Amino acid sequence: SYLGIDLGTSGLRALLIDAAGEVVGSVERSYSVSHPHSGWSEQDPAQWIEALESAMEEMRAAFPDFAGLRGMGVAGHMHGATLLDANDAVLRPCILWNDTRAHAEAARLDSIAEVRSLSGNIVFPGFTAPKLKWVRAHEPEIFERVAKVLLPAAFMNFYLTGEHVADMSDSAGTSWLDTGARQWSDALLSASHMRSDQMPRLVEGSEPAGQLRSELARKWGLSQTVTVAGGAGDNAAAACGIGATQEGQGFVSLGTSGVLLAARDGYRPAPETALHTFCHAIPERWYQMGVMLSATDSLNWLSSITGVKPAELTAGLGEELRIPGLVRFLPYLSGERTPHNDAVIRASFTGIGADTDRTELTRAVLEGVSFGLRESFDALKATGARPERLFAIGGGTRSRYWLRLIATVLDIPLALPAGGEFGAALGAARLGRLAASDAAIEDVLLPPETAEVIEPENDKRAAFDDAYLRFRAAYPATRQIQ
Ligand code: XUL
Repeated sequence: SYLGIDLGTSGLRALLIDAAGEVVGSVERSYSVSHPHSGWSEQDPAQWIEALESAMEEMRAAFPDFAGLRGMGVAGHMHGATLLDANDAVLRPCILWNDTRAHAEAARLDSIAEVRSLSGNIVFPGFTAPKLKWVRAHEPEIFERVAKVLLPAAFMNFYLTGEHVADMSDSAGTSWLDTGARQWSDALLSASHMRSDQMPRLVEGSEPAGQLRSELARKWGLSQTVTVAGGAGDNAAAACGIGATQEGQGFVSLGTSGVLLAARDGYRPAPETALHTFCHAIPERWYQMGVMLSATDSLNWLSSITGVKPAELTAGLGEELRIPGLVRFLPYLSGERTPHNDAVIRASFTGIGADTDRTELTRAVLEGVSFGLRESFDALKATGARPERLFAIGGGTRSRYWLRLIATVLDIPLALPAGGEFGAALGAARLGRLAASDAAIEDVLLPPETAEVIEPENDKRAAFDDAYLRFRAAYPATRQIQ
Protein backbone atom coordinates (compact mmCIF):
# COMPACT_ATOMS: atom_id res chain seq x y z
CA SER A 1 0.00 0.00 0.00
CA TYR A 2 0.95 3.67 -0.33
CA LEU A 3 0.25 6.62 1.93
CA GLY A 4 -0.44 10.25 1.10
CA ILE A 5 -0.21 12.97 3.74
CA ASP A 6 -1.87 16.30 3.06
CA LEU A 7 -0.36 18.72 5.55
CA GLY A 8 -2.99 21.46 5.34
CA THR A 9 -3.31 24.82 7.05
CA SER A 10 -6.10 23.72 9.36
CA GLY A 11 -5.32 20.03 9.63
CA LEU A 12 -3.61 16.91 8.37
CA ARG A 13 -5.24 14.24 6.25
CA ALA A 14 -3.68 10.83 5.66
CA LEU A 15 -4.98 8.68 2.81
CA LEU A 16 -4.09 5.07 2.12
CA ILE A 17 -4.26 3.51 -1.36
CA ASP A 18 -3.63 -0.10 -2.28
CA ALA A 19 -1.02 -1.47 -4.71
CA ALA A 20 -3.36 -0.81 -7.64
CA GLY A 21 -4.00 2.79 -6.58
CA GLU A 22 -7.52 2.26 -5.20
CA VAL A 23 -8.46 4.18 -2.07
CA VAL A 24 -8.44 2.12 1.13
CA GLY A 25 -9.38 4.85 3.60
CA SER A 26 -8.34 8.05 5.30
CA VAL A 27 -8.00 9.69 8.70
CA GLU A 28 -7.86 13.34 9.73
CA ARG A 29 -6.49 15.50 12.51
CA SER A 30 -6.98 19.21 12.98
CA TYR A 31 -4.74 21.87 14.48
CA SER A 32 -4.77 25.62 14.87
CA VAL A 33 -3.11 28.66 13.36
CA SER A 34 -1.96 31.45 15.66
CA HIS A 35 -2.20 35.11 14.77
CA PRO A 36 0.01 36.89 17.34
CA HIS A 37 -0.44 40.20 15.48
CA SER A 38 -2.69 41.39 12.68
CA GLY A 39 -1.44 39.92 9.39
CA TRP A 40 0.70 37.31 11.15
CA SER A 41 0.00 33.63 10.75
CA GLU A 42 2.14 30.98 12.44
CA GLN A 43 2.14 27.30 13.32
CA ASP A 44 4.35 25.25 15.60
CA PRO A 45 5.75 22.32 13.54
CA ALA A 46 5.38 20.16 16.66
CA GLN A 47 1.62 20.26 15.96
CA TRP A 48 2.20 18.67 12.54
CA ILE A 49 4.24 15.86 14.07
CA GLU A 50 1.70 15.26 16.81
CA ALA A 51 -1.08 15.13 14.18
CA LEU A 52 0.96 12.75 12.03
CA GLU A 53 1.80 10.40 14.88
CA SER A 54 -1.74 10.16 16.12
CA ALA A 55 -3.09 9.77 12.55
CA MET A 56 -0.66 6.90 11.99
CA GLU A 57 -1.83 5.19 15.17
CA GLU A 58 -5.41 5.34 13.92
CA MET A 59 -4.41 4.24 10.40
CA ARG A 60 -2.59 1.26 11.76
CA ALA A 61 -5.56 0.20 13.86
CA ALA A 62 -8.21 0.88 11.21
CA PHE A 63 -6.64 -0.47 8.02
CA PRO A 64 -4.82 -3.84 7.87
CA ASP A 65 -3.36 -2.73 4.48
CA PHE A 66 -1.20 -0.20 6.34
CA ALA A 67 1.07 -3.03 7.49
CA GLY A 68 2.12 -3.53 3.86
CA LEU A 69 3.14 0.11 3.34
CA ARG A 70 5.82 0.47 0.63
CA GLY A 71 5.85 4.16 -0.16
CA MET A 72 4.54 7.52 0.98
CA GLY A 73 4.45 11.15 -0.06
CA VAL A 74 3.72 14.47 1.64
CA ALA A 75 1.83 17.44 0.17
CA GLY A 76 2.20 20.63 2.17
CA HIS A 77 0.77 24.10 2.37
CA MET A 78 3.25 26.13 0.39
CA HIS A 79 5.69 28.99 1.12
CA GLY A 80 5.99 28.50 4.93
CA ALA A 81 9.40 29.04 6.52
CA THR A 82 10.46 26.43 9.08
CA LEU A 83 13.85 27.45 10.46
CA LEU A 84 16.27 24.88 11.86
CA ASP A 85 19.54 25.43 13.73
CA ALA A 86 22.74 23.40 13.22
CA ASN A 87 21.33 20.65 15.48
CA ASP A 88 18.08 20.55 13.49
CA ALA A 89 16.10 22.14 16.31
CA VAL A 90 13.18 24.36 15.24
CA LEU A 91 14.13 27.99 15.95
CA ARG A 92 10.71 29.66 15.93
CA PRO A 93 7.13 28.89 14.80
CA CYS A 94 6.72 28.38 11.06
CA ILE A 95 5.63 31.60 9.30
CA LEU A 96 2.81 30.52 6.99
CA TRP A 97 1.80 31.25 3.38
CA ASN A 98 -0.99 33.62 4.45
CA ASP A 99 1.23 35.72 6.71
CA THR A 100 1.70 39.20 5.24
CA ARG A 101 4.14 40.78 7.71
CA ALA A 102 6.91 40.72 5.09
CA HIS A 103 5.09 42.78 2.46
CA ALA A 104 7.69 45.54 2.42
CA GLU A 105 10.54 43.02 2.11
CA ALA A 106 8.61 41.29 -0.69
CA ALA A 107 8.19 44.54 -2.61
CA ARG A 108 11.90 45.30 -2.23
CA LEU A 109 12.95 41.87 -3.51
CA ASP A 110 10.40 42.07 -6.31
CA SER A 111 11.91 45.31 -7.55
CA ILE A 112 15.26 43.61 -8.31
CA ALA A 113 14.98 42.84 -12.03
CA GLU A 114 16.55 39.39 -12.04
CA VAL A 115 14.34 38.13 -9.22
CA ARG A 116 11.26 37.86 -11.43
CA SER A 117 13.23 36.65 -14.43
CA LEU A 118 14.95 33.81 -12.50
CA SER A 119 12.11 32.76 -10.20
CA GLY A 120 9.41 33.27 -12.85
CA ASN A 121 7.11 34.90 -10.31
CA ILE A 122 6.31 38.08 -8.51
CA VAL A 123 7.66 37.93 -4.97
CA PHE A 124 4.32 37.82 -3.17
CA PRO A 125 4.32 38.80 0.51
CA GLY A 126 3.47 35.21 1.50
CA PHE A 127 6.45 33.67 -0.31
CA THR A 128 9.42 32.36 1.67
CA ALA A 129 12.30 34.68 0.74
CA PRO A 130 10.78 37.90 2.14
CA LYS A 131 10.06 36.08 5.41
CA LEU A 132 13.78 35.45 5.89
CA LYS A 133 14.52 39.10 5.16
CA TRP A 134 11.98 39.97 7.84
CA VAL A 135 13.58 37.58 10.34
CA ARG A 136 16.99 39.05 9.57
CA ALA A 137 15.69 42.55 10.32
CA HIS A 138 13.51 41.77 13.35
CA GLU A 139 14.95 38.63 14.92
CA PRO A 140 18.68 38.87 14.05
CA GLU A 141 19.70 36.45 16.83
CA ILE A 142 17.48 33.80 15.22
CA PHE A 143 18.57 34.64 11.67
CA GLU A 144 22.21 34.09 12.63
CA ARG A 145 21.45 30.57 13.81
CA VAL A 146 19.52 29.46 10.71
CA ALA A 147 21.26 26.38 9.30
CA LYS A 148 18.36 25.16 7.16
CA VAL A 149 15.07 26.59 5.87
CA LEU A 150 12.46 23.93 5.17
CA LEU A 151 8.98 24.31 3.70
CA PRO A 152 6.29 22.46 5.71
CA ALA A 153 6.35 19.39 3.41
CA ALA A 154 10.17 19.33 3.48
CA PHE A 155 10.10 19.54 7.27
CA MET A 156 7.86 16.49 7.24
CA ASN A 157 10.28 14.77 4.83
CA PHE A 158 13.02 15.53 7.34
CA TYR A 159 11.02 14.03 10.20
CA LEU A 160 10.25 10.94 8.12
CA THR A 161 13.69 10.32 6.60
CA GLY A 162 16.19 12.27 8.72
CA GLU A 163 17.33 14.07 5.55
CA HIS A 164 16.94 17.65 4.39
CA VAL A 165 15.25 17.11 1.08
CA ALA A 166 12.54 19.01 -0.79
CA ASP A 167 10.68 18.65 -4.06
CA MET A 168 10.79 21.13 -6.97
CA SER A 169 7.09 22.10 -6.99
CA ASP A 170 7.11 23.38 -3.42
CA SER A 171 10.59 24.86 -3.70
CA ALA A 172 9.47 26.99 -6.67
CA GLY A 173 7.32 28.98 -4.21
CA THR A 174 10.30 30.27 -2.23
CA SER A 175 11.60 32.91 -4.70
CA TRP A 176 14.99 31.16 -4.35
CA LEU A 177 14.56 28.59 -7.10
CA ASP A 178 15.56 29.08 -10.73
CA THR A 179 12.19 27.68 -11.79
CA GLY A 180 13.15 27.07 -15.42
CA ALA A 181 16.41 25.26 -14.53
CA ARG A 182 14.88 23.47 -11.50
CA GLN A 183 17.80 24.33 -9.18
CA TRP A 184 18.58 26.74 -6.35
CA SER A 185 19.79 30.08 -7.65
CA ASP A 186 22.77 31.65 -5.88
CA ALA A 187 21.74 35.04 -7.25
CA LEU A 188 18.23 34.72 -5.78
CA LEU A 189 19.54 33.37 -2.48
CA SER A 190 22.05 36.15 -2.03
CA ALA A 191 19.35 38.76 -2.74
CA SER A 192 17.88 37.78 0.63
CA HIS A 193 21.23 37.11 2.36
CA MET A 194 20.83 33.34 2.15
CA ARG A 195 23.26 30.60 1.09
CA SER A 196 22.76 27.37 -0.82
CA ASP A 197 24.00 25.28 2.16
CA GLN A 198 20.90 26.49 4.02
CA MET A 199 18.69 24.87 1.40
CA PRO A 200 17.55 21.22 1.33
CA ARG A 201 18.70 18.87 -1.43
CA LEU A 202 16.27 18.94 -4.37
CA VAL A 203 14.50 15.97 -5.93
CA GLU A 204 11.53 15.63 -8.24
CA GLY A 205 8.27 15.03 -6.35
CA SER A 206 7.86 11.56 -7.86
CA GLU A 207 11.44 10.51 -7.05
CA PRO A 208 12.61 8.93 -3.78
CA ALA A 209 13.68 11.47 -1.17
CA GLY A 210 14.85 8.81 1.27
CA GLN A 211 13.69 5.89 3.40
CA LEU A 212 11.39 6.02 6.38
CA ARG A 213 13.59 6.10 9.51
CA SER A 214 13.79 2.68 11.10
CA GLU A 215 12.70 4.09 14.44
CA LEU A 216 9.42 5.31 12.92
CA ALA A 217 8.93 2.12 10.91
CA ARG A 218 9.24 0.13 14.15
CA LYS A 219 6.86 2.40 15.99
CA TRP A 220 4.29 2.09 13.18
CA GLY A 221 4.62 -1.70 13.05
CA LEU A 222 6.38 -1.85 9.68
CA SER A 223 9.20 -4.30 9.07
CA GLN A 224 9.83 -3.56 5.37
CA THR A 225 11.63 -0.63 3.75
CA VAL A 226 9.31 2.33 3.08
CA THR A 227 10.33 4.86 0.41
CA VAL A 228 9.44 8.51 1.00
CA ALA A 229 8.84 10.49 -2.20
CA GLY A 230 9.96 14.08 -2.79
CA GLY A 231 6.31 15.06 -2.34
CA ALA A 232 4.80 18.36 -3.48
CA GLY A 233 3.28 21.69 -2.67
CA ASP A 234 -0.46 21.23 -2.19
CA ASN A 235 -1.49 22.69 -5.55
CA ALA A 236 0.90 20.46 -7.53
CA ALA A 237 -0.29 17.49 -5.45
CA ALA A 238 -3.91 18.38 -6.23
CA ALA A 239 -2.96 18.45 -9.92
CA CYS A 240 -1.49 14.94 -9.49
CA GLY A 241 -4.66 13.82 -7.73
CA ILE A 242 -6.89 15.00 -10.55
CA GLY A 243 -4.51 13.87 -13.28
CA ALA A 244 -3.57 17.33 -14.56
CA THR A 245 -0.03 16.66 -15.74
CA GLN A 246 -0.04 17.35 -19.47
CA GLU A 247 -0.49 20.42 -21.61
CA GLY A 248 -4.24 20.99 -22.04
CA GLN A 249 -5.22 19.60 -18.63
CA GLY A 250 -6.27 21.68 -15.66
CA PHE A 251 -8.87 22.53 -13.07
CA VAL A 252 -10.77 25.38 -11.54
CA SER A 253 -11.14 25.15 -7.77
CA LEU A 254 -13.89 27.10 -6.00
CA GLY A 255 -12.75 27.05 -2.41
CA THR A 256 -12.22 29.83 0.14
CA SER A 257 -9.86 31.08 -2.51
CA GLY A 258 -10.23 30.37 -6.20
CA VAL A 259 -7.55 28.63 -8.24
CA LEU A 260 -7.37 28.16 -11.98
CA LEU A 261 -4.53 25.77 -12.74
CA ALA A 262 -3.13 24.44 -16.00
CA ALA A 263 -0.37 21.85 -16.46
CA ARG A 264 2.37 22.93 -18.88
CA ASP A 265 4.93 20.98 -20.88
CA GLY A 266 7.33 23.91 -20.88
CA TYR A 267 8.40 26.88 -18.78
CA ARG A 268 6.51 29.99 -19.90
CA PRO A 269 6.56 32.46 -17.02
CA ALA A 270 4.43 35.60 -17.12
CA PRO A 271 5.07 37.27 -13.78
CA GLU A 272 3.69 40.62 -14.98
CA THR A 273 0.21 39.04 -15.06
CA ALA A 274 0.55 37.83 -11.45
CA LEU A 275 0.15 34.25 -12.65
CA HIS A 276 2.09 31.76 -10.52
CA THR A 277 4.50 29.62 -12.54
CA PHE A 278 5.88 26.68 -10.57
CA CYS A 279 7.60 23.37 -11.29
CA HIS A 280 5.22 20.42 -11.36
CA ALA A 281 5.84 17.46 -9.06
CA ILE A 282 7.00 15.33 -12.01
CA PRO A 283 10.10 15.88 -14.19
CA GLU A 284 10.08 18.27 -17.14
CA ARG A 285 6.65 19.65 -16.36
CA TRP A 286 5.51 22.95 -14.90
CA TYR A 287 2.13 24.31 -13.96
CA GLN A 288 0.67 27.77 -13.97
CA MET A 289 -2.16 29.09 -11.89
CA GLY A 290 -4.09 32.20 -11.17
CA VAL A 291 -5.00 32.59 -7.50
CA MET A 292 -7.90 34.74 -6.37
CA LEU A 293 -8.09 35.24 -2.64
CA SER A 294 -11.86 35.37 -2.06
CA ALA A 295 -13.97 32.90 -4.06
CA THR A 296 -16.52 31.08 -1.87
CA ASP A 297 -15.35 33.52 0.79
CA SER A 298 -17.15 36.27 -1.13
CA LEU A 299 -20.41 34.33 -0.99
CA ASN A 300 -19.80 33.47 2.66
CA TRP A 301 -19.37 37.14 3.40
CA LEU A 302 -22.72 37.98 1.73
CA SER A 303 -24.22 35.13 3.70
CA SER A 304 -22.87 36.49 6.97
CA ILE A 305 -24.25 39.99 6.45
CA THR A 306 -27.65 38.84 5.15
CA GLY A 307 -28.03 36.00 7.62
CA VAL A 308 -28.99 33.67 4.76
CA LYS A 309 -27.01 30.49 4.16
CA PRO A 310 -24.88 30.40 0.97
CA ALA A 311 -26.90 27.50 -0.48
CA GLU A 312 -30.13 29.46 0.06
CA LEU A 313 -28.65 32.56 -1.53
CA THR A 314 -27.69 30.67 -4.68
CA ALA A 315 -30.96 28.71 -4.70
CA GLY A 316 -32.74 32.08 -5.00
CA LEU A 317 -31.27 32.45 -8.48
CA GLY A 318 -32.83 29.26 -9.77
CA GLU A 319 -30.82 27.05 -12.10
CA GLU A 320 -31.23 28.85 -15.38
CA LEU A 321 -28.38 31.23 -16.18
CA ARG A 322 -29.47 34.88 -16.32
CA ILE A 323 -27.64 37.41 -18.45
CA PRO A 324 -25.68 39.89 -16.32
CA GLY A 325 -27.50 42.76 -14.65
CA LEU A 326 -26.23 46.23 -13.81
CA VAL A 327 -24.78 45.42 -10.41
CA ARG A 328 -21.07 44.52 -10.38
CA PHE A 329 -19.10 43.09 -7.46
CA LEU A 330 -15.32 43.39 -7.25
CA PRO A 331 -14.34 40.35 -5.15
CA TYR A 332 -11.36 41.86 -3.34
CA LEU A 333 -12.45 41.34 0.27
CA SER A 334 -8.86 40.44 1.23
CA GLY A 335 -7.00 42.13 -1.62
CA GLU A 336 -6.09 40.13 -4.71
CA ARG A 337 -3.21 38.08 -6.10
CA THR A 338 -4.02 37.40 -9.79
CA PRO A 339 -4.18 39.64 -11.78
CA HIS A 340 -3.58 42.67 -9.54
CA ASN A 341 -1.04 41.67 -6.89
CA ASP A 342 -2.72 44.22 -4.65
CA ALA A 343 -2.88 43.60 -0.92
CA VAL A 344 -4.55 46.93 -0.21
CA ILE A 345 -7.54 46.92 -2.60
CA ARG A 346 -10.90 46.09 -1.04
CA ALA A 347 -14.17 44.86 -2.54
CA SER A 348 -17.01 46.99 -3.83
CA PHE A 349 -20.47 46.84 -5.35
CA THR A 350 -21.32 49.21 -8.17
CA GLY A 351 -24.58 49.84 -9.99
CA ILE A 352 -26.93 49.29 -7.05
CA GLY A 353 -30.42 50.67 -7.71
CA ALA A 354 -33.49 51.22 -5.54
CA ASP A 355 -34.83 47.94 -6.90
CA THR A 356 -31.68 45.90 -6.20
CA ASP A 357 -32.54 42.99 -3.96
CA ARG A 358 -30.64 40.21 -2.27
CA THR A 359 -30.88 37.98 -5.33
CA GLU A 360 -29.25 40.66 -7.48
CA LEU A 361 -26.43 41.04 -4.97
CA THR A 362 -25.94 37.27 -4.95
CA ARG A 363 -25.82 37.21 -8.71
CA ALA A 364 -23.28 40.05 -8.76
CA VAL A 365 -21.09 38.21 -6.23
CA LEU A 366 -21.09 34.99 -8.27
CA GLU A 367 -20.40 36.98 -11.44
CA GLY A 368 -17.60 38.99 -9.83
CA VAL A 369 -15.79 35.82 -8.76
CA SER A 370 -16.34 34.32 -12.23
CA PHE A 371 -14.96 37.42 -13.93
CA GLY A 372 -11.95 37.32 -11.61
CA LEU A 373 -11.33 33.74 -12.72
CA ARG A 374 -11.62 34.85 -16.33
CA GLU A 375 -8.81 37.35 -15.77
CA SER A 376 -6.60 34.44 -14.67
CA PHE A 377 -7.78 32.38 -17.62
CA ASP A 378 -7.05 35.15 -20.10
CA ALA A 379 -3.55 35.53 -18.62
CA LEU A 380 -3.02 31.78 -18.94
CA LYS A 381 -4.19 31.74 -22.52
CA ALA A 382 -1.82 34.59 -23.33
CA THR A 383 1.07 32.27 -22.38
CA GLY A 384 -0.16 29.70 -24.91
CA ALA A 385 -2.20 27.42 -22.61
CA ARG A 386 -5.18 25.97 -24.48
CA PRO A 387 -7.14 23.66 -22.19
CA GLU A 388 -10.19 22.23 -23.91
CA ARG A 389 -12.02 21.60 -20.68
CA LEU A 390 -11.36 21.99 -16.97
CA PHE A 391 -12.34 19.90 -14.00
CA ALA A 392 -14.40 21.93 -11.52
CA ILE A 393 -13.79 21.13 -7.85
CA GLY A 394 -14.34 22.67 -4.41
CA GLY A 395 -17.34 23.66 -2.31
CA GLY A 396 -18.62 26.30 -4.76
CA THR A 397 -19.38 23.62 -7.36
CA ARG A 398 -22.46 22.66 -5.35
CA SER A 399 -24.19 25.58 -7.09
CA ARG A 400 -25.36 24.57 -10.53
CA TYR A 401 -25.95 28.21 -11.34
CA TRP A 402 -22.34 29.10 -10.54
CA LEU A 403 -21.03 26.24 -12.68
CA ARG A 404 -23.10 27.36 -15.69
CA LEU A 405 -21.96 30.92 -15.12
CA ILE A 406 -18.25 30.01 -14.97
CA ALA A 407 -18.48 27.71 -18.02
CA THR A 408 -20.06 30.56 -19.98
CA VAL A 409 -17.79 33.35 -18.69
CA LEU A 410 -14.64 31.28 -19.37
CA ASP A 411 -16.14 29.77 -22.53
CA ILE A 412 -14.97 26.30 -21.61
CA PRO A 413 -16.76 23.06 -20.69
CA LEU A 414 -16.46 22.18 -16.99
CA ALA A 415 -16.18 18.51 -16.03
CA LEU A 416 -17.48 17.40 -12.65
CA PRO A 417 -15.54 14.48 -11.20
CA ALA A 418 -17.67 11.51 -10.18
CA GLY A 419 -17.39 11.25 -6.35
CA GLY A 420 -14.42 9.71 -4.64
CA GLU A 421 -10.96 11.08 -4.06
CA PHE A 422 -9.04 13.44 -6.30
CA GLY A 423 -7.37 15.92 -3.94
CA ALA A 424 -3.88 16.66 -2.64
CA ALA A 425 -3.80 13.62 -0.31
CA LEU A 426 -4.43 11.30 -3.26
CA GLY A 427 -1.82 13.18 -5.29
CA ALA A 428 0.70 12.68 -2.47
CA ALA A 429 -0.10 8.97 -2.17
CA ARG A 430 0.37 8.61 -5.93
CA LEU A 431 3.77 10.30 -5.69
CA GLY A 432 4.64 7.78 -2.96
CA ARG A 433 3.63 4.99 -5.31
CA LEU A 434 5.72 6.40 -8.16
CA ALA A 435 8.78 6.77 -5.93
CA ALA A 436 8.47 3.28 -4.43
CA SER A 437 7.51 1.21 -7.48
CA ASP A 438 8.28 1.04 -11.17
CA ALA A 439 4.77 2.15 -12.14
CA ALA A 440 4.80 4.74 -14.94
CA ILE A 441 3.63 8.32 -14.39
CA GLU A 442 1.01 8.07 -17.15
CA ASP A 443 -0.48 4.96 -15.54
CA VAL A 444 -0.67 6.46 -12.06
CA LEU A 445 -1.61 10.14 -12.39
CA LEU A 446 -4.96 9.52 -14.06
CA PRO A 447 -8.00 11.80 -14.09
CA PRO A 448 -11.09 10.72 -12.14
CA GLU A 449 -14.21 9.65 -13.97
CA THR A 450 -16.39 12.51 -15.16
CA ALA A 451 -19.91 12.54 -13.77
CA GLU A 452 -21.17 15.33 -15.98
CA VAL A 453 -19.97 18.12 -18.27
CA ILE A 454 -21.39 21.65 -17.98
CA GLU A 455 -21.24 23.40 -21.36
CA PRO A 456 -20.96 27.16 -21.91
CA GLU A 457 -24.20 28.81 -23.03
CA ASN A 458 -23.17 30.42 -26.27
CA ASP A 459 -26.24 32.59 -26.77
CA LYS A 460 -25.39 34.45 -23.54
CA ARG A 461 -21.66 34.90 -24.19
CA ALA A 462 -21.83 38.33 -25.80
CA ALA A 463 -23.69 39.77 -22.81
CA PHE A 464 -21.10 38.32 -20.43
CA ASP A 465 -18.21 39.58 -22.58
CA ASP A 466 -19.66 43.04 -22.37
CA ALA A 467 -20.12 42.87 -18.59
CA TYR A 468 -16.58 41.49 -18.24
CA LEU A 469 -15.13 44.57 -19.96
CA ARG A 470 -17.00 46.77 -17.48
CA PHE A 471 -15.80 44.62 -14.61
CA ARG A 472 -12.21 45.10 -15.73
CA ALA A 473 -12.63 48.85 -15.96
CA ALA A 474 -13.99 48.98 -12.42
CA TYR A 475 -10.71 47.96 -10.72
CA PRO A 476 -8.56 50.93 -11.80
CA ALA A 477 -11.49 53.26 -11.14
CA THR A 478 -12.11 52.06 -7.58
CA ARG A 479 -8.35 51.76 -6.93
CA GLN A 480 -8.06 55.53 -7.23
CA ILE A 481 -10.45 56.20 -4.37
CA GLN A 482 -9.02 53.68 -1.91
C1 XUL B 1 -0.27 28.90 -3.26
C2 XUL B 1 -0.71 29.22 -1.89
C3 XUL B 1 -1.74 28.38 -1.26
C4 XUL B 1 -1.14 27.51 -0.22
C5 XUL B 1 -2.27 27.04 0.66
O1 XUL B 1 0.57 29.84 -3.81
O2 XUL B 1 -0.26 30.13 -1.25
O3 XUL B 1 -2.48 27.65 -2.19
O4 XUL B 1 -0.40 26.49 -0.80
O5 XUL B 1 -2.28 25.80 1.04
